[in-house]
Amino acid sequence: MKLSDTVAVITGGASGLGAGTVRNFVAGGAKVAIFDMNAQKGEALAAELGDSVLFQKVDVTSEEAVTAGLDATVAKFGKINACVNCAGIGVAMKTMGKEGPHPLDLFKKVIDINLTGTFNTMRLAVERMCANTPNEDGERGVIVNTASVAAYDGQKGQVAYSASKGAIVGMTLPVARDLAFYGVRICTIAPGLFMTPLFEGLGQQVVDQLSAQVTFPKRLGTPAEYGDLARHIVESRYLNGETIRLDGAIRLP
Ligand SMILES: NC(=O)c1ccc[n+]([C@@H]2O[C@H](COP(=O)([O-])OP(=O)(O)OC[C@H]3O[C@@H](n4cnc5c(N)ncnc54)[C@H](O)[C@@H]3O)[C@@H](O)[C@H]2O)c1
Repeated sequence: MKLSDTVAVITGGASGLGAGTVRNFVAGGAKVAIFDMNAQKGEALAAELGDSVLFQKVDVTSEEAVTAGLDATVAKFGKINACVNCAGIGVAMKTMGKEGPHPLDLFKKVIDINLTGTFNTMRLAVERMCANTPNEDGERGVIVNTASVAAYDGQKGQVAYSASKGAIVGMTLPVARDLAFYGVRICTIAPGLFMTPLFEGLGQQVVDQLSAQVTFPKRLGTPAEYGDLARHIVESRYLNGETIRLDGAIRLP
């Protein structure tokens, strides 16, 4: 799919990896709808990038909110043919800790936003993609989901996060198979350590320690590099049903 012919919904697009993708796609000529809960950051980014960007305050776990956001996107840009899911949260909590067992509501919250929110946005966006006229390859749309290397190498305290990201990896092939009939592709990106607000607050010493764990190059990834891969997935028609690690070959101990 050509980026200049792309209308993309990007969840979590107000910050970090999602914002890097918004910038990359707009620079390539795409139209973008940011779905995020952070209205202040989302509206500021939309104002900075101009008329190619629409901000919608959307909770990805809500059917109603996602539907309203998709309606507004189609009303402004005429169609939706890409959906990049970056909205997500992390928590640090062990299965059993000094305070007792992992609170169930916290586990459910992480699954709800990271996994169910991704699935919810994806399924409703695909419904819109089905209305598109297919290109000469029969393609009507593309989905990019965001997992994490924690899907494979989860650390202590990451049980809920790793479970949510492992499930995103697990969804990738069956969704590709489900949507082949409609001409919609899907790939998942599993990022390693990226310089987003999460890490910016940790201080240079911690960033240096984390950077030393990366095989090569010895630094954190950037949101622009995440955006590059998301763009490549959108543009590269033969990529489908796969999870791609984007991690400088880091394998967390
Ligand atoms: N930064 C990293 O190193 C890293 C590594 C691996 C995976 N990831 C994943 O990449 C994604 C983006 O991470 P980031 O570091 O850019 O985080 P971030 O906190 O900078 O951005 C996440 C965005 O998601 C939004 N969001 C949270 N809950 C939402 C909801 N219910 N509905 C809509 N929007 C919601 C937030 O407002 C925020 O703007 C996440 O899924 C994260 O798990 C990040």
